[in-house]
Amino acid sequence: MSVEKKIPRHVAIIMDGNGRWAENRGEERYVGHMQGVESVRRVVKAAVKNGVEYLTLYAFSTENWGRPAEEVSALMEILCRSIIDETPELKRQGVRVRMIGDRSRFSEKVQQHLALIEQETSTEEKLTLILALNYSSRSELVRATQLLAERVARGELQPGEIDEKAVSESLYTHFCPDPDLIIRTSGECRLSNFLLWQASYSEFYFPEVLWPDFTEQEFERALEVYAGRDRRFGLVKTESKK
Ligand code: IPE
Ligand code: IPE
Ligand code: MG
Repeated sequence: MSVEKKIPRHVAIIMDGNGRWAENRGEERYVGHMQGVESVRRVVKAAVKNGVEYLTLYAFSTENWGRPAEEVSALMEILCRSIIDETPELKRQGVRVRMIGDRSRFSEKVQQHLALIEQETSTEEKLTLILALNYSSRSELVRATQLLAERVARGELQPGEIDEKAVSESLYTHFCPDPDLIIRTSGECRLSNFLLWQASYSEFYFPEVLWPDFTEQEFERALEVYAGRDRRFGLVKTESKK
């Protein structure tokens, strides 16, 4: 008997453990971030192969600016280089890249690279790869609140018309469905300011593996775990599982 596998439309990943991966080898932390790019490449391929429509990767949090300057600049370099190196292959695979977060804090150079990859891939439709960069879910909610308040002040919206849909549409993530599955590698079990609103009914999966060691098999394992979950959304179970 073949059962159609339940594939999440939107998978979001907190890519954690690069620093520990490098430190375990006596290397500088940036070496772990470079190795982490290989995992990104593998996971994008696996997402396309498995028919996932949206893949969000938490690549840099607003809090991450507080890391040592050398680590932050290494991360920015790796980001720019990866954009240049990966764009052709992403296009070949039908991947559209979008960004969530406050891009205004990045250098002119980083902003240009981001605009370039978004523009170059804008017509691709197979997978939308969403990079969370200088992302903070609380800041996103503050910004959404400000946007809604401005609309009220302009007389476009009544306060009583602010509903869940209006809030969702004011978030950076307005163009995509909420994540069905959130994966965080490295054994940490926290959200670290990631998609707090959007994660209301997400399924969570916390593998022990460090991000640079995350393989296509690990990704498919996560999909299997997801397929076995019973999402109830506060309702009662409708089908009995044997
Ligand atoms: C995740 O790995 C990458 C970023 C936060 C940019 P970490 O750098 O947080 O790795 P650990 O948690 O220190 O091992
Ligand atoms: C979350 O990881 C941010 C990213 C993966 C980009 P962190 O390593 O920054 O989070 P904490 O500090 O362990 O909560
Ligand atoms: Mg970490």
